[in-house]
Amino acid sequence: MEWNGQKAREAIEAFAFGPEELIAAVEVFRSEMEKGLQGKVDSTLNPLPSYLGLPTGDEHGEFITLDFGGTNVRAERVRLFGGGQYEQAARVAKPLIVPGRYNHAGRGSSAVGLFGFLAEIIDAVLGGDHETPYRLGHTFSFPSTQDSPRDAKLISWTKELAVPDVEGRWVNEKLNDALLQRGLSNVHPTAILNDTVAVLLAAAYQWDNVAIGSIYATGFNACYLEKFDGEKSPMIMNLEAGNFGWLDQNEYDMALDATSEKEGTQTLEKMVSGRYLGALFSRAFGDILGETVHAVTGEDLCHIIQGDGSALLRHMAGIPLTDGQIEESAALAEAIVRRSARIAAAVYVGMLRHILDGKAIGAQNIAVEGSFFTHMAVARVALRDALLEILKDEGKNVQILHVSGGASLGAAIAAAMIGD
Ligand code: BGC
Repeated sequence: MEWNGQKAREAIEAFAFGPEELIAAVEVFRSEMEKGLQGKVDSTLNPLPSYLGLPTGDEHGEFITLDFGGTNVRAERVRLFGGGQYEQAARVAKPLIVPGRYNHAGRGSSAVGLFGFLAEIIDAVLGGDHETPYRLGHTFSFPSTQDSPRDAKLISWTKELAVPDVEGRWVNEKLNDALLQRGLSNVHPTAILNDTVAVLLAAAYQWDNVAIGSIYATGFNACYLEKFDGEKSPMIMNLEAGNFGWLDQNEYDMALDATSEKEGTQTLEKMVSGRYLGALFSRAFGDILGETVHAVTGEDLCHIIQGDGSALLRHMAGIPLTDGQIEESAALAEAIVRRSARIAAAVYVGMLRHILDGKAIGAQNIAVEGSFFTHMAVARVALRDALLEILKDEGKNVQILHVSGGASLGAAIAAAMIGD
């Protein structure tokens, strides 16, 4: 095994996402999104109605929230005071998988086990209170069809989840069964919404001019308020942006896709979100060394970029690496993250172009939640630069709002908006 310098340069180049690709992606994203809105089945974007509009900001009451979408499950007790004010009163969070102990995400898991686990976390946040009635807002972060905001039918798992017997099923119905099973008849699953929708609600509860809600974390996605030209009431649409299928994949993208749970789907997400970037790095790094290496996490990527990942890289390589080779590895990690952020920028601008339909861009806020994005300075800077690169001076009107805890807050707001 030895370091192939030529391969290293080629791998870095393979993750470039140049100015022309960036501009083209904006336009194709917009047209694909509009095709989807017109109901064309050949679009890779199929906007999903949330049956929710924007909040007034005066929603109030006390709610239980459940955030189920990726690595961790969180339940909270949230108090809304109106006027954009709130308090997150209690919180319990558990990972979906603890290696060697349990796994509620993989093929070997079960729907009964998963929903029982969710009910257990809700029970914990209530401190065993089986009396006080609560409405529950449920952030369920997978593509789902809805005909009201009260329940959602899972279309297809993403982010490598593979729990049997949930696809094609009504999710809140299953959750309700599990709550009853646990004696929690005082908790009523009232609202169910995508995490991007929750982020948009949470941001719009507190600030003006929020155009887009987005998650940039284990998964990637965005939503916005569709005005429907006055034909019907405005409604937040979940774009399932991660499924956009018109980006050029390089050899590492293709190899990763081929070994993923759902080959040929979520092409953009597999190039952008934290769940996949570490795996892309490991594939390319292994290619440079001529050897398969284990996948690093998104957090490891952070360290590698910041220059404190040399011990990890040397351990992965199993051979001594020179400082120059460590630097090339950091450049590779940075190229992967920069491409991710530039694609995210193309998505946001494609959406803004649809929302504004030729009008000038005034003050617009894009609400983003996600640990991956928040902790990755390279991603934040690359996203801002790409917005300015595409929008020039108008880009200065577009602000990225970092919303933390948006999924739970948004779920509480949705429960308040719906009522009993
Ligand atoms: C899901 C989306 C979700 C996103 C962020 C994607 O894998 O398909 O529904 O919004 O992850 O969690």
